[in-house]
Formats: sequence, structure tokens, C-alpha cells
Amino acid sequence: MSERKPMIAGNWKMNLTLEQSTSLVKTIVKECGRLKGVEVLVAPPFTALSTIKEAIGDSGILLAAQNMHWELEGAYTGEISPKMLVEAGCSHVILGHSERRNLFFETNDTINLKTEAAISTGLVPIVCIGETLDQREQGQTSEVIREQLEGSLKNLLERKNLPLSTILAYEPVWAIGTGKTATPDQAQEVHQFIRHWLDENFGSRAARAIRILYGGSVKPGNIRELMSMPDIDGALVGGASLKAHSFLPIIRFQEN
Ligand code: PGA
Repeated sequence: MSERKPMIAGNWKMNLTLEQSTSLVKTIVKECGRLKGVEVLVAPPFTALSTIKEAIGDSGILLAAQNMHWELEGAYTGEISPKMLVEAGCSHVILGHSERRNLFFETNDTINLKTEAAISTGLVPIVCIGETLDQREQGQTSEVIREQLEGSLKNLLERKNLPLSTILAYEPVWAIGTGKTATPDQAQEVHQFIRHWLDENFGSRAARAIRILYGGSVKPGNIRELMSMPDIDGALVGGASLKAHSFLPIIRFQEN
């Protein structure tokens, strides 16, 4: 039996009005607050964080931001600091999502700074990695994943110290928002590779404890099969997390 508690995380990206996100989170709280066998997390846009925190109350649903800067404060117009996220009620932060890497030119170097800053501010980082279709077709998947892990966790690697609460998310770029899910076997293969990498670099305790989420077109129809894989510890869900009728059955994957 795995010591890793499954996590289902909804990444709402730049979607939902304040009213829609409040109503969605209230439904999640009502239907899934205090569920025992799974951790539920939502990542709304920055402007909704405080309101959603209030709606979450003491239900146990976790709150994440979708990005942040690595400095605690300063002249960085348009940016949000880790300290501000803590103040808004976040316990987690998604870092290095492929949309940040590809559309906003984030690099492993900046993700490394952000990961370090998140941890030192008391936020749990959810560090995203994943290959493009081209890289997969060229047979470069493991190489790309290794490079992203080494780069995004560089400071932690140097100190050989990765907090066991850290979360990794494998999101093949070709499966995000495309309706194409990696097959459970394809996902498991990469998750197993990541777990071996954790073992080699941070030891067996970290490899056993650290959760690796899968992301990319997760839906009610494929969650159970994905979650049956030994190294898949949860899901980072985009599109299907925007509506209660698709997100709730994903959260309740253990029940049917
Ligand atoms: P998707 O997005 O579920 O819409 O494919 C996943 C993600 O980008 O985290």
C-alpha cells in the first residue's frame, strides 16, 4: 500500500468569473469537503484567491496559486510574491506549468529560483515538467524530463535536500487541452523514471514519499485507469476541473 495520499488538483488557468469560481468551490466543499482518502486542491486566478479561501473555510480543500515571482517584494511590476500568496491563504503554488514555459518564456533557472522561494516561504511547490510531441517522437522524453528535473530543482539538488511535501506534476505538453491523454502505460513509464531519478538523487525515502501527479486531458472516463498505476499519485486537471459535473467524479474516482 502506497504511503502517498492521492491528490486531485484543479488548475483553473485564466477561466471562471469570481461568481462562477465561488459557486464551483462551494459545490466542491459540499460534495467533497473532508473526504478521507484524497486531498483536493484548487488553483484559481490570483484575483479570486482570497474569496475562494473564504468559501473553502475549514473544509480541508487546499488552495494554490498558478505562478509567482521568486522575490519576496520589490520593483517587479505585475508580479506576485510568495509572501502575498501566503497572505491570500495559499498553501501550495504551481510552478513551471508548460504554458508558463512556452508562452511566457519561463526557464528551468527561474523555476529553480521560484521553487526555492516557495519552500523558504512555507509554500508547497507543485513543479511541472513534460515533453513536447516533437521531443517524444524524437525519443528524447527521458532526456528532457531529466534536464527539467535537474534544472528546476537545481538548488535543492546541490543541498541534497528535497522536502517530502514537494509535489511533481508530469504533464506531457501534447496531452494538455488536446483531448489526447497519455495512455496509463505511457504515463506510468515516465512516472517510474521520475521516481527512479528521485531515488538516485534524494534517496529512497524521498522517492517513496514524493507525490507525482499526472496532467493532460484527465477526465472522469480515464481517471480510474490512470490512478491504478503504481507511480501515479494524483492528477492535475485543467479543462475538466472547471465544471462540477466533470470535476466531482474525478475527485471521487475511488468510489465507482
Ligand atoms: P487539461 O490541462 O486537463 O485541460 O489538459 C491540464 C493542465 O494544464 O494542468
